[in-house]
Amino acid sequence: MAFDEGTYGANEMRVIVLLPKSPDAGSILRVLEGMGVTSRMCATSEELCAEIERGVGALMIEEHVLSTGIGACLHALLDRQPSWSELPIIVLLSHGPETQIARDALLLHGDVSLVERPVRVNTLVAVVRSALRSRRRQFVVRDQLLALEQSERRLQKAKDELDVRVQDRTELLSNALEKLLVESTERLQVAEELRRKEQLLMQQNRLAAMGEMLVSISHQWRQPLNVLGLILQELNRSYQRGTVTSEFVEVRVSRAKQVITHMSQTIDDFRNFLNPDKIKVLFTVKDVVETTLSMVEGSFKEIMANVKLIAEDNVFIEGYRNEYAQAVMNILVNARDVFKERDVAHPQLTITISTENGRSVVTFADNAGGIAGNVMGRIFDPYFTTKAPDKGTGIGLFMSKMIIERNMNGSLSVRNTDEGAEFRIEV
Ligand SMILES: Nc1ncnc2c1ncn2[C@@H]1O[C@H](COP(=O)(O)OP(=O)(O)O)[C@@H](O)[C@H]1O
Ligand SMILES: [Mg+2]
Repeated sequence: MAFDEGTYGANEMRVIVLLPKSPDAGSILRVLEGMGVTSRMCATSEELCAEIERGVGALMIEEHVLSTGIGACLHALLDRQPSWSELPIIVLLSHGPETQIARDALLLHGDVSLVERPVRVNTLVAVVRSALRSRRRQFVVRDQLLALEQSERRLQKAKDELDVRVQDRTELLSNALEKLLVESTERLQVAEELRRKEQLLMQQNRLAAMGEMLVSISHQWRQPLNVLGLILQELNRSYQRGTVTSEFVEVRVSRAKQVITHMSQTIDDFRNFLNPDKIKVLFTVKDVVETTLSMVEGSFKEIMANVKLIAEDNVFIEGYRNEYAQAVMNILVNARDVFKERDVAHPQLTITISTENGRSVVTFADNAGGIAGNVMGRIFDPYFTTKAPDKGTGIGLFMSKMIIERNMNGSLSVRNTDEGAEFRIEV
């Protein structure tokens, strides 16, 4: 298709003719034929309107037709033309002076040409040619409009598709987001649950340690209570003998005060020991081990267990002092328990403190026979215990491991020696 030609159907270059009263109709048709123009001669205005509907290049009508009933159907057709169309209408005028009908013809919604009678062949050819050329240009415009419409439709389609894709994608994303939210909420809940459980364990371990300490306090107080008792007896006896001097009383009272101060000091020590740590401090490992040892010393003495401490002096840790002490306490108490439980003849616990590769190392080796193979892998699990319900909770080693490994970035391990178990804390 050439751009300036336009595309059109077989009927669309026809000249539709309605010349019922024209004696020259025959010769006019012959002129058209000579021009190579397809024409369609109609007998009635109904036929004319029907033919126009099937496709038209130009109309050729005589003036007289416009004064008949044709007006209505033609006007309707012309008014219905699409925007690109302005149908060429050639009106052959009657002889004589200009009429009102001829003037009104110019008002038709089309490209109207008025042709005077008698018609010269040349004039007719020129008018028909110009009419069809104008029609062809209209077809070009029609093509362009069509192309525009098509590309608009394609654009709209692309936009619609894009909309759908965007919608799909948005839905997908929001689903993913929702899932993520649900998952992270669940994860948070699990983490929270875990934290709660850990806190509970910590609490239970503290309770166990407190029980341990009550026992220790009662051991530690036995001696000073004895001393206080003796002082009172002495005071009483001297009074009865009448040998009390103010100096005598003063010495005894000040001794009793000393003892009481020492006792209250013991309680403070224990209370501090049980306080959870908030800040990291620099502490000497030997100090902590000795203090902790002194707290359970009583129960070791009770079963005649011997504790040997081989310690380097300048071994330091920066961390949570009380938590570290509790880990140590758990290991000490376990050793005492196993001595008792297995009724070990000469219970011996050897503690060493040293440094290796810049890290502090403390080992606790007992001679109670060690840990059975089937138990070894589980002793650090929470609630794992081989002891009777009233003797063990199974929390001690689990907590110790948490404290050393998670809170202090160290390691807590165990192995069997020839004589017993050896626990090792590295921080
Ligand atoms: N020194 C040790 N020798 C042999 N077994 C031990 C020793 N220390 C711990 N165990 C074993 O590890 C288990 C877990 O210890 P722990 O977590 O402190 O809980 P509990 O002392 O309440 O049983 C003990 O029940 C015991 O079987
Ligand atoms: Mg224990």
